[in-house]
Amino acid sequence: MGATVEIEGVRELLDGEPEAIQAPERIWDRLLAEAPVYREGDRIVLSRYEDVRAAMQDGDVNYGKNMSQTAYLQRFLKTLSPSDADDFWEFFNFRSVWMVSTTGEEHARLRRLAHRAFTPRRIAQMDAAIRGFTDELIEPLLDGDVANFMDVAYRLPLMVIVEMLGCPPEDRELIHTWSRAIGAQQDRADVVTLRAAATAVREFRRYVHDAVAVQRQGDIGERDLVAALLEAHDGEQLTEEELAGMFVMLLFAGHETTTNLIAIGLVELLRRPEQWQLLCADPTLIPGAVEELLRFVSPVQWTKRRCILEHEVGGVVIEPDTMVVLANAAANRDPAAFAEPGRLDVRRPDSRRHLALGFGAKFCLGASLARMEGAMVFETLVERFPDIRLAGGDLRFVGSSALRTLQELPVVLGTDRRPISG
Ligand code: HEM
Repeated sequence: MGATVEIEGVRELLDGEPEAIQAPERIWDRLLAEAPVYREGDRIVLSRYEDVRAAMQDGDVNYGKNMSQTAYLQRFLKTLSPSDADDFWEFFNFRSVWMVSTTGEEHARLRRLAHRAFTPRRIAQMDAAIRGFTDELIEPLLDGDVANFMDVAYRLPLMVIVEMLGCPPEDRELIHTWSRAIGAQQDRADVVTLRAAATAVREFRRYVHDAVAVQRQGDIGERDLVAALLEAHDGEQLTEEELAGMFVMLLFAGHETTTNLIAIGLVELLRRPEQWQLLCADPTLIPGAVEELLRFVSPVQWTKRRCILEHEVGGVVIEPDTMVVLANAAANRDPAAFAEPGRLDVRRPDSRRHLALGFGAKFCLGASLARMEGAMVFETLVERFPDIRLAGGDLRFVGSSALRTLQELPVVLGTDRRPISG
């Protein structure tokens, strides 16, 4: 069965080695075709749509989320010096209070609390702010011919999430540095990223502690997420550690994920001028295009679970404490789920079935915010720079395997430029 086949490059891809993250599609396609349940050392990779969706929907029967207990990370822990082991626990203990790392009742409670801050009304209120930020970021591009679009794709989601959390705009860069160090760790057995992530956790936690103290003295702002989370309802409240965890998780979950949708999504559209032209001719196609880009790009390439109960998938036995990689980037390219999956089609009727935002109890909490940000950027570009094109040259991916991102995105804005209409 699949687990006995050897596929070169899987370890390098999962470990985020710089060359391996440049073109992961090749590996995802090989896994789907040759070994859809693949054993890589202490890890198992699931790539079929049905298997990934079933694991996401598991309901805490076979899977948990406590990654520090997986055989993969326990083996890494044994190699660490005492001070690095302290960093290991600093990082993983902090992450264990993040909603995304919890299961069962604990998860349900944190999700209920987070929903209070993420109501549809609150997200709808962000509409004007997102439009304002998008225009603010795009305006300076009018001065030149070639622009690095990463400046927009990177900054917009950061501005949005920092605004939602009620932090001062001048703290954006600091917050971003921490969130990047934490994001780079991503369960890697790598001591350099671990140390940086543990330092970021310490500083970030102190920052939240101070922000909470200020918040407790001041007014509860309407759009302020920290304030909303601090309010007690029906006896439910977050501890300060949980609040810090929620805060960091939201910053992290809401930032580079959305950057990738915008930046890599734009690259894929501009590589196919006929698809871009479809959007220029009919901007009402944009919400559907965002779904297709989520499927095609898979801004978060994979998520993971810890196996807690021995079970079998596709004839392969998965033992307790195995780290199981749910490769939604592969699942979104599964020909059993999508016709001609390697083709980007902004009019694809069923792209919304993608697993790019997860599935089941842990379905992305920020899905509507991310969709709104993506649609807003593409609408603005179609309206203001219909001639935009890639400036050429190789595009280089950096970051981790699950969350690879572009270093730079040079674009030529073209001669057809239109002022802000509204
Ligand atoms: C295009 C952008 C985004 C993508 C691709 C994305 C992807 C995902 C995925 C795949 C999951 C499921 C993780 C799992 O099953 O282990 C998830 C969960 C989550 N996302 Fe997103 N996300 C995006 C944007 C956002 C934004 C903007 C926010 C918040 C501001 C956010 C907050 C969350 C949270 C809190 C969870 C955990 C939900 C839970 O555990 O119940 N995400 N996201």
